[in-house]
Amino acid sequence: MTILLLGSGGRESALAWKISRSPLCDKLYILPGNGGTDVYGENVPGIKTTDFPTIEKFCDEHAVDMIVVGNEDPLVAGIYDYFDGRRLVVGPSKMGAMLEGSKDFAKAFMSRHNIPTARYRSFTAETLEEGIEFLLTLKAPYVLKADGLAAGKGVLIIDSLEEAQKSLREMIGGMFGNSSATVVIEEFLSGIECSVFVLTDGKQYRILPVAKDYKRIGEGDTGPNTGGMGSISPVVFADEVFMQKVEERIIRPTVEGLAAEGITYRGFIFLGLISVEGEPMVIEYNVRMGDPETESVMLRIDSDLVALMRAAAEGNLGDMPLAISPKAAATVVVVSQGYPGSYPKGLPIELGDIGNAILFHAGTDRDAKGQLVTSGGRVIAVSSTADTIEQALQQNFAAIDAISYEGKNFRRDIGRDLLKLM
Ligand code: AMP
Ligand code: GLY
Repeated sequence: MTILLLGSGGRESALAWKISRSPLCDKLYILPGNGGTDVYGENVPGIKTTDFPTIEKFCDEHAVDMIVVGNEDPLVAGIYDYFDGRRLVVGPSKMGAMLEGSKDFAKAFMSRHNIPTARYRSFTAETLEEGIEFLLTLKAPYVLKADGLAAGKGVLIIDSLEEAQKSLREMIGGMFGNSSATVVIEEFLSGIECSVFVLTDGKQYRILPVAKDYKRIGEGDTGPNTGGMGSISPVVFADEVFMQKVEERIIRPTVEGLAAEGITYRGFIFLGLISVEGEPMVIEYNVRMGDPETESVMLRIDSDLVALMRAAAEGNLGDMPLAISPKAAATVVVVSQGYPGSYPKGLPIELGDIGNAILFHAGTDRDAKGQLVTSGGRVIAVSSTADTIEQALQQNFAAIDAISYEGKNFRRDIGRDLLKLM
């Protein structure tokens, strides 16, 4: 079949890598793709992933059978509904995508279906003063979330009450534009986080390998948040007992809840979970795969992902098997100097012998002469599998030595917290 993959990051590189290995995939296009995805298929630059009419024209001209959506924007903008069955789309309907597109919707959904999550209330300009009062009833730290998409920056965790009250006013006043016109305030949960991925056809589901990501720029989880500095799979504390709770209390009620509410969902569900003394609670839903979790997760899926995605998109997962590798996977992201603040672009990248690692390009491009250059904050996700997490990390660090560009930065402590638990 002919497949169109939307997106341009490390996640899409990993999806493209996996899709291109499927015997079912005759032709893969990546729209827009990056400086590394052209190894797995053909890049389609110059079209936005939310420009549905132009994407449909491309699908018609290139006989695309299935669209796989990597990033959230097209899903939240309603790509599933736009195509309305004219193409197979791996993803939720616009209503289903609200699980990520509106935190207030997600919290209300969880509360309707008794899915464990932090206690919360939502506030708007009309109820701002109630929000200020509500903060008085909570203990520090205070968790304030912009309701809508805010490029991963819409969550503030604040230690002082005065600061939290000030931020609530500013958020509702437009700190994140319309995205923070509604603000969710919730109880702070203390524990260790992991990312659980599910592929569903709306009735059945398969649970993909669990991963943990590392969001802060600095070692020891310090400094500002980034799009993700690395990931590890499997996650030692997400053991059989924990995952049984996750399935019973979270995954099943989510899939059944969507179905009961008549919400079409044929794609990936990303559960951002926190283990509070061994009890899983939902921090957030996303309606796509995670980045950089996907880079590690794809390496541990032995089954044909295209067959699974097609079955999900057709509403027919049935008893199709999902085989997961017992190996450990690790990803370390090399980033630009200055990221997540401002950083230079267009710096030439030289690649040496990367051994057993795989390079999933993220912020790379080719200049007019064909030279590989940096084009984003997260430049390349370096991934590998091995018998142990330590070995996979060793392979990644050796490969990182063979990547050169000015100002290369990365975290050397990815996975160290998990190794301590083992
Ligand atoms: P989100 O965008 O909802 O995933 O939030 C970003 C990050 O903020 C999460 O990955 C958590 O580390 C943290 N966070 C969000 N909600 C809470 C909460 N209720 N308690 C503690 N930490 C939270
Ligand atoms: N790694 C977190 C995310 O993709 O949102």
